[in-house]
Amino acid sequence: MGKLQDKVAVVVGGARGIGLATAKLMMLEGAVVTIADILEPGEDTGASFHGLDASDVGAVDELADLVLRQHGRIDVLYNNLGIHYSAQIPDSDPEEFDRVMRINVKSHYLTSRAFLPAMIGQESGSMVFMSSHGGIAGRPTDPVYNASKHAVTGLMRSIAVAYAHLGIRANAVAPGAVDTPMLRAALPNSQNVDDLMGALTANIPLARIAQPEEVASVVVFLASEEASYVTGHVIPVDGGRMAGVMPGNRYRTDHLN
Ligand SMILES: NC(=O)c1ccc[n+]([C@@H]2O[C@H](COP(=O)([O-])OP(=O)(O)OC[C@H]3O[C@@H](n4cnc5c(N)ncnc54)[C@H](O)[C@@H]3O)[C@@H](O)[C@H]2O)c1
Repeated sequence: MGKLQDKVAVVVGGARGIGLATAKLMMLEGAVVTIADILEPGEDTGASFHGLDASDVGAVDELADLVLRQHGRIDVLYNNLGIHYSAQIPDSDPEEFDRVMRINVKSHYLTSRAFLPAMIGQESGSMVFMSSHGGIAGRPTDPVYNASKHAVTGLMRSIAVAYAHLGIRANAVAPGAVDTPMLRAALPNSQNVDDLMGALTANIPLARIAQPEEVASVVVFLASEEASYVTGHVIPVDGGRMAGVMPGNRYRTDHLN
């Protein structure tokens, strides 16, 4: 019996990267999954697919309507979608600020708004939100993206405390660097990708970049009954990055022996 046996799950932003890996793992664990995304998944996963812009209220309400009509319930809502935006504040574009907030924050609010009434009626459900280690600490390179990821954790914690008495849980994951199309697109294209990946790795105590499946397994844990007493928390999945204050390669003491 899988960790999510017969659970009805929706993965918003599940067409590729971390979302796709999570949708696939949820299915392996027995869930009935709907992937909702603006892109079609690049492979046939066996999940249902619903195309939408998740920052559009009408489209999100339609998704919830469809899932609830088809399955009569919603057990797991995984809000994974997000876009990256890198610009120092003086150089940043206010229209990009609105776009990032619309896609990274408003969409998570809209899906929560659309599915919460069903979870409240059932008196059960688990929501997992995608934050980032940029949603825990400040970073100089992408302050707008970071603000959006801090907002996601605020939304998640508010839902967690508001509906815990009804058996509804909400948590977030905060990955560090994960090897996905988004990460690769965010690297400056003037430089060699391997060099940039190497520079990122130097900041990580586990000394490697995560694979999407390593985030997916934490999301599935949070979504499942194995995490029945975990709510309102942000779980870093970052190879130890947020555990200390120095770059990862500075913790090595083997040169002292
Ligand atoms: N890759 C990393 O290093 C990393 C680190 C920390 C957090 N994250 C977060 O993880 C999440 C997934 O990132 P990823 O690296 O897998 O990125 P990705 O770009 O590969 O996947 C994002 C998915 O969201 C979908 N999406 C974007 N806008 C949408 C919209 N308006 N409506 C519906 N779907 C939309 C995309 O089509 C895509 O399938 C994001 O929220 C990202 O901020 C990623």
